[in-house]
Amino acid sequence: MRPMAENPLQQNVLKPIPTVELVMHALSVGDLNDLCDSTEEAIKAGGGFGWISLPNRDLLERFWNGVLVMPARMLFVARLDGVICGSAQLIKPPKNNEAQAFAVQLTGLFIAPWARGQGLSRRLLDFVEKTALKEGFKVINLDVRETQDAAINLYESAGYTCIGKHPAYARVGEDIIAGRYYTKPIDPELAHKLGPTA
Ligand SMILES: CC(C)(COP(=O)(O)OP(=O)(O)OC[C@H]1O[C@@H](n2cnc3c(N)ncnc32)[C@H](O)[C@@H]1OP(=O)(O)O)[C@@H](O)C(=O)NCCC(=O)NCCS
Repeated sequence: MRPMAENPLQQNVLKPIPTVELVMHALSVGDLNDLCDSTEEAIKAGGGFGWISLPNRDLLERFWNGVLVMPARMLFVARLDGVICGSAQLIKPPKNNEAQAFAVQLTGLFIAPWARGQGLSRRLLDFVEKTALKEGFKVINLDVRETQDAAINLYESAGYTCIGKHPAYARVGEDIIAGRYYTKPIDPELAHKLGPTA
């Protein structure tokens, strides 16, 4: 039987079931709606994954449907009790870039505010890494605004190494915000070869 929630105020509430997945087919109307709701809530809470102002709903729906049909992108979603509450994307290198064919870019990772603090992003990140490895990639690269403390904690605690900083990485309103670049060798052999600082 599913355990009850730990919060005593929610004693009669069943603990929500977290799941993560790679989206392989078109999203159902309900899933697309939940993904757009989660995106909007995360943007309103401060974003951190690109969007700053709320796009209109039609644009958001077209954006997510667009991600799904792009061969270079892999879309992942996180769910709580089946409801999409976050996502992440992997961007594969272009076919002509043979020298970097082993590296993939992680972007747009977020969890909606109502679903945060339950280990979902760690679960999602772990699944993204395992999927990337299965797809033959050996390295994940990512970048993040320096102000995204939660995301920075997540990535550093998951073994990502900061390899550089950009003083003018993003603009939010009138503020220019610095950014950080991270990398992680997900292939154990490469990680061993690169040593502890890689
Ligand atoms: C970053 C984010 C994805 C974390 O999602 P989450 O599901 O709440 O995170 P989890 O519960 O899985 O926690 C994983 C780790 O993240 C870090 N973390 C999460 N929330 C945090 C907070 N409020 N303050 C500091 N660190 C935090 C911790 O290291 C945590 O590990 P711990 O629980 O062992 O301490 C979420 O806050 C978010 O969507 N932020 C806005 C979007 C963003 O910044 N994305 C990154 C773009 S590259």
